[in-house]
Amino acid sequence: MTNSTQGLPMGQRVRVTEFAENPLEGVDKYLTLEDQPMPDSSTLGECDVIIEIKSASVGWVDLLMTSGQYQHMPPLPYTPGLEYSGIVVWVGDAVDSNVAAVGERVYVDGFVTGPRSPGKYQQYGGFATYAVAPEAAIRPIPESFSFDQACNLLGSYETAYHCLIACGQLQAGETVLIHGASGSTGLAAVHIAKILGATVIATGRSDEKLAVVKAQGADHVINCKAPEGEAGVRRFRDEVKALTGGKGVDMVYDGVGGEISLESMRCVKFGARFLVVGWASTPFVAKGKGQRGAPNANMLPTNLIMMKGLKVLGCPTVISTQHDESIRPERMEKIMQWVNEGELQPFISHRFPLSEIKTALKSKWNGDVIGGCVVHPSE
Ligand SMILES: NC(=O)c1ccc[n+]([C@@H]2O[C@H](COP(=O)([O-])OP(=O)(O)OC[C@H]3O[C@@H](n4cnc5c(N)ncnc54)[C@H](OP(=O)(O)O)[C@@H]3O)[C@@H](O)[C@H]2O)c1
Repeated sequence: MTNSTQGLPMGQRVRVTEFAENPLEGVDKYLTLEDQPMPDSSTLGECDVIIEIKSASVGWVDLLMTSGQYQHMPPLPYTPGLEYSGIVVWVGDAVDSNVAAVGERVYVDGFVTGPRSPGKYQQYGGFATYAVAPEAAIRPIPESFSFDQACNLLGSYETAYHCLIACGQLQAGETVLIHGASGSTGLAAVHIAKILGATVIATGRSDEKLAVVKAQGADHVINCKAPEGEAGVRRFRDEVKALTGGKGVDMVYDGVGGEISLESMRCVKFGARFLVVGWASTPFVAKGKGQRGAPNANMLPTNLIMMKGLKVLGCPTVISTQHDESIRPERMEKIMQWVNEGELQPFISHRFPLSEIKTALKSKWNGDVIGGCVVHPSE
């Protein structure tokens, strides 16, 4: 066991110093890369752990948080990076050696530590060389997983599980239309829907990315990009109808929002479930600079919802779990079972050194990424 952090080299960390009007302004103006003073072990708790970070996931939520347009706002300044993985370099005296020992490969639970967590560890995100986390947040990296995969597991797959299974109760043999399928949560939804035995119709705006989504398991893909010069999405109801023998889909997994939601409601079976997962195409529903409110709220058509007997389900994974913690153990158990059986393999398309954090965040924002995007602090 190491009881001192003396001798560990100086690191670097990203800091958000102010909430911006929007994520791009946040990345350009209020996100800085600075030297990171070594966490001083004499100031840490006996259940604390220091991790030398090897990989940190660059997520959509990290971007929204920089402008305070996400529902959770960490106190400023903070280091972004909700999920990260690395090697334990120091443990407090009371840490159970079966949970965390110096030299072990671990990843963290973003519910318990980091910018999305409720307590005192919010300042320690993954876009840094070192992070302090409580023992309760530490998890061993599955043997077959890389550091990159480990920090792209829980956020995406817990969301997909919560939406498809806890909320939607997707069944084998059903057909699900997955929007934003090349995204982190969308690709996880493709993986889980296939494990469940459903048929997946995946949408996106790029043939290249959709080819990967198909190789990752989607049965059918539809490019819904509007013709050049036009906004929104193109009509795709006829293709979906043709793929479902004229019946329409049993479920829509919508992480994109806006116009795609409306078009989706024209390609469902009577009584289908419509999962509201997110709104990647309309990120500015809330005011910037953390002013809250929903001046640009998305709208759904009540006429279609009624005539199609649609069950519209809001599926906020973290908030639902905070309301009812009992829903998480079963979800975690099932996800880890699939991981251990080799059925779940997070896919990562983009890797950057930490020094290129701004480029990494912009790649995510611009929709260049398929599945996961990561930064590596030690490069
Ligand atoms: N319900 C929950 O608990 C939960 C949890 C995590 C995230 N979310 C939300 O779910 C949504 C997706 O999250 P994510 O992490 O999967 O994001 P992501 O990795 O960035 O993926 C979003 C996907 O949406 C598609 N898209 C379509 N129109 C877009 C546009 N105008 N701008 C950007 N992307 C667009 C993109 O695919 P193409 O380029 O192929 O079209 C992109 O891959 C976000 O709104 C996020 O806040 C919800």
